[in-house]
Amino acid sequence: MIIAIDGPAGSGKSTIAKLIAEDLGLVYLDTGAMYRLVTLKALNEGILGDFEKIKKMLDNLNIDIKENGFYLDNVDVSDEIRKPIVSENVSDIAAIREVREKMVDLQRKFSESKNVILDGRDIGTVVFPNANVKIFLVADAKERANRRYKELVKKGENVKIEEIYENILKRDEIDSTRKESPLKKAEDAIEVDTTSKNIEEVKNEILNIYSKYFICV
Ligand code: CDP
Repeated sequence: MIIAIDGPAGSGKSTIAKLIAEDLGLVYLDTGAMYRLVTLKALNEGILGDFEKIKKMLDNLNIDIKENGFYLDNVDVSDEIRKPIVSENVSDIAAIREVREKMVDLQRKFSESKNVILDGRDIGTVVFPNANVKIFLVADAKERANRRYKELVKKGENVKIEEIYENILKRDEIDSTRKESPLKKAEDAIEVDTTSKNIEEVKNEILNIYSKYFICV
């Protein structure tokens, strides 16, 4: 079984996907973290703007997703990939066709013969167009910036809410207008607006959709 959760930055995808995975006993894959790992590697190698070098870098990319964290070259970089410097650059990296091809391939392999819930931008449209349940999470941009701000402050990051807001708007723009697999709602996805709802409410709404949908199909 495959549940696809797509939506813009900060709409609550990963929080909700984790909870639903626990509830339904599914394996969770955060596909955004994969693009963040590639971005961190390009940053570390000082080749951010050089698309040719980035494409070459994909040949010896060593990323690993374990239950306890995200690994780049066998080092746990779970915190590093959430830093603003990565958020500022990830959408440009995720727009590169070769990067997407490689990530989609890994996502499909990871999901083989498992019951999974994946979150991202193109899960219901490109990675798994036949997913059993497709959810498209949205929320007001100010609210999304506010959530991300609180999350980063909690982790001890020194961030400004205005900058986070700008980053979210910029990423939405790049992600939804890019040529390769742009962020968009799949025709058969169900939209859930999380703006004025708490986590429990959103989780229950999605579980309701799941039981209606999954039992019907
Ligand atoms: O958690 P947040 O919403 O900030 O973003 P994320 O899920 O970690 O994704 C980071 C970036 O990766 C997005 O802004 C997209 O540019 C890219 N991404 C993508 O292109 N396709 C996916 N399936 C997942 C993420």
